[in-house]
Amino acid sequence: MTIPLQIPDSVIAMGVPDRAVQSDAVPWVPQGERVWFKPLRFDLANGRWINILKVTGGGRVNRHRHTGGQVLGYCLQGSWHYLEREWVARPGTFVYEPPGDVHTLVVDDAEEMITLFILDGVVQYLDDEDRVIYQDDVYTKLDRYLTFCRESGIEPVDLRY
Ligand SMILES: [Fe+2]
Repeated sequence: MTIPLQIPDSVIAMGVPDRAVQSDAVPWVPQGERVWFKPLRFDLANGRWINILKVTGGGRVNRHRHTGGQVLGYCLQGSWHYLEREWVARPGTFVYEPPGDVHTLVVDDAEEMITLFILDGVVQYLDDEDRVIYQDDVYTKLDRYLTFCRESGIEPVDLRY
């Protein structure tokens, strides 16, 4: 049996080509106080988005639940932890969060943290009574990115792939 080494051109023409995204060309989009995200991919077909998160010292991502999808993370710089966990993420730490996980991301160091995250599903931000007060998914993240680019006069990189 002979297996073709390359995807036929006819299939590539109908499918998704490979991409090499230069993150320098993508702005840091404000997400909250002392929190920014730099998107790298909006996978609309699967409800998945990939971004680099930056949180400066003393910043936090408020308590939230990952409904309907897992999270994968890889710490690139600085350190951070979840209030609900014992471990600390440092450069080289790979993180897995199962669907439904609830946590609060905090950065204690004066040094900023930078972490790559791959997210599926919905991020539901919770109040003290566990009521959902806001939620994000691939569409709201894409909208935030495009709105920020428009308001900043930046030509957005098309990250839909
Ligand atoms: Fe999270």
